[in-house]
Order: sequence, then C-alpha cells, then structure tokens
Amino acid sequence: MAKIITLDGPAGAGKSSTARQLAARLGWCYMDTGAMYRAVALAALNRGVSLTDQLKLAALAGVLGISFSEGRVLLDGEDVSAEIRTERITTATRPVADAPPVREAMKQLQRRMAEELNVVTEGRDQGSVVFPGAALKIFLEASPEERAHRRHRQQTNQAGPAATVEEILQAQTRRDEGDRARPVGAMRAAEDAIVLNTDGLSLEEVVERIFTLAQSRGLAATPEPSPSEMP
Ligand code: DC
Repeated sequence: MAKIITLDGPAGAGKSSTARQLAARLGWCYMDTGAMYRAVALAALNRGVSLTDQLKLAALAGVLGISFSEGRVLLDGEDVSAEIRTERITTATRPVADAPPVREAMKQLQRRMAEELNVVTEGRDQGSVVFPGAALKIFLEASPEERAHRRHRQQTNQAGPAATVEEILQAQTRRDEGDRARPVGAMRAAEDAIVLNTDGLSLEEVVERIFTLAQSRGLAATPEPSPSEMP
C-alpha cells in the first residue's frame, strides 16, 4: 500500500519547499497539486476553453497529461514549469480551482497518481478531501506578515522586488479569502491534521519536525540507537 503525507495551508506558508525537501529526504514522490490546477488553466487558455464553462474545464482536466519529472511540471510532455507561475495563469487558475466539476476530476487524477507510489502531496484540500486516510496530515501556517515578507524576499532574490510588502499582503489576503470561501475543496485543516506554525522557523527546522513526526508514525526509517543508548 502506498503511503501518503499531506501538506496543506495558505500560499506563502512554505508548503512547496517543505514538501519538496521532505519528499527528497524520504525518497518519496512530490505532488504539487497547485501546479496541476495551474496546468489546467494554461491548457484552457491555449485551447480557447472558456474559464466560466465548468463542464468543459472538467472534461479538459480529465484528458490532460499532467506529470512531474525531475522537479519540472509537464503538460502533455511539454515543460510548462515557468509559464504556469506567471501572473496571467495565477489569475486564470482561480475560476478553474473554484469549479466543483474540475475539483472532482482533479481528485480522481490525484488519487490515481498516488495509487502505487509513496507521495508527499501539497495543496489546500489534500488532507481534508482528497486523501482522508493519509498516514500523516500537516497544515502549515504562518502569520500573514511573515508570509508576505518571505514572498518579497523571494522576489527580490529572483528578479528584484516587483511589488511592495504591503501590495503582496493585500493580494495574499484576497487569495486566502478566496481559498477559504470556495464551496467545494475549501482550504481547511482536516480534523486529524497537525497544525504547524512556521513563524520564526527555518525551512530546515520545519522539514526536520515533519520528518520526526513521520518517523514516529513508522513512515521513515528510525536511526539505530547508538551503543550508549542500548538497554
Ligand atoms: O499553491 P498554488 O498557488 O500553486 O495554487 C494555485 C491555485 O490553485 C490557487 O488558487 C489555489 C488553488 N489550489 C486549490 O484550490 N487546491 C489545491 N489542492 C491546490 C491549489
């Protein structure tokens, strides 16, 4: 039986980096479900499918070839990793992710992808809806201010600051509200999720904490006790 660890939470809480590093440490696959919704939005724009036609969007989601390879996102074999992160696609993804028929199609696809593999999956509804039986569910949180500062630092490191912290904070608040208000697949911690606030923690510390939890649930090899600890 494949094993699943879910990592949900708002944008900017550090989910992607954490999930990627955790998966590498465990030797498991990493599934970025936000990238999957983004890929559907990109395909819809490319093929002229209206973003308001929920049934056509769902049909499209059902036939697309979305896969992950060496940290890249492939859409029907083409590397779309950079394109799906553009502002245009971020905006187009919102109605796609809001559409209940699309979410149903994505749930089926995500379950199929995780059928035979051990997976660390990251999104908004992975613990609450898609993998209710996951072996470990984490809900990552951070204060809005810290998340906005992190995003600002990230942008500065990449191409120079495109927006002020205040602007990032405003856009982030709008996205959070949209993610929480979605009628199907709203962002929320599953009842049995462990809520981890990452304020003031480094990425390494967050990964270490989750790895230790995974070990305590028998999901990762536990190091042999050193001889001095032997009974
Ligand atoms: O995590 P992200 O920013 O790449 O997500 C892109 C969009 O998809 C965002 O609007 C939230 C949405 N999303 C979702 O509704 N459910 C998921 N499991 C993952 C992402």
